[in-house]
Amino acid sequence: MKVGIFDSGLGGLTVVRSILDVLKGAELFYIADTKHAPYGEKSTEEILQYSLDITDYFLKNHHIDALIIACNTATSAAIATIRERYPQLIVIGTEPGVKPAIEQTQTGRVGVLATPATLKGEKYQQLVDTHAKTKNITLYEQACPGLVDQIEKGHIEHPKTQAMLEEWLAPMKEGGVDTIVLGCTHYPLVGEMIADIMEHRLSLIHTGEAIARRLLSLARQRGHLNYGETTLKLSATGTIDETIVHAILGREAAIETVAL
Ligand code: DGL
Repeated sequence: MKVGIFDSGLGGLTVVRSILDVLKGAELFYIADTKHAPYGEKSTEEILQYSLDITDYFLKNHHIDALIIACNTATSAAIATIRERYPQLIVIGTEPGVKPAIEQTQTGRVGVLATPATLKGEKYQQLVDTHAKTKNITLYEQACPGLVDQIEKGHIEHPKTQAMLEEWLAPMKEGGVDTIVLGCTHYPLVGEMIADIMEHRLSLIHTGEAIARRLLSLARQRGHLNYGETTLKLSATGTIDETIVHAILGREAAIETVAL
């Protein structure tokens, strides 16, 4: 199995970490499109174009069998077009875990943190229409402009990041939210800070493990034998903080620059 994985930056590595836990004997190629980050504050057309360029790059240079869109924002803007264009390719996207959050909540109050583009997208609206109306649920939706930027800059344990989160989480804390959907793959990187602000009375939902399990299942259907070493090749289109990359993955890895 050759698997291409991309995100606007560091966030998708939280998905890579989950994939490394379950997928054996595969070649993983990761692109952090840091030249164009953050995606969440760009137009749908721009995000679609970046996603198509990366998919074409993976197909041409690495002959991938599967594509993981490790980004909620790019999934919303591009997955339908990519699936239509490449029917032979396994394509797995990332969607905010609204369904598991609704299944788990005890208070019926669920928070969703995501980028402005994800929350504005049709896909998110469909997700809410399908799941949030089945139970008596109050959703606290919060767009987090600037948060991806803070994380990319390595300003994770940083007073500005703390202040942003405190402001966004205050209504959720007051309203008795007990479950928060991390609707952007960057946000697990500030998960501890979110849990601290919410005084640990909550569950945080992210979807990396579910994506990894789905990939393994689809790979097996194509005859993948799940044993042996999995390799990872990391690339970025712009600058990236290598220390954070290594901290997320728990291992050293060289990062190449690709022109896209
Ligand atoms: N990790 C991306 C996501 O899941 C971040 C998007 C951005 O670059 O704003 O939405």
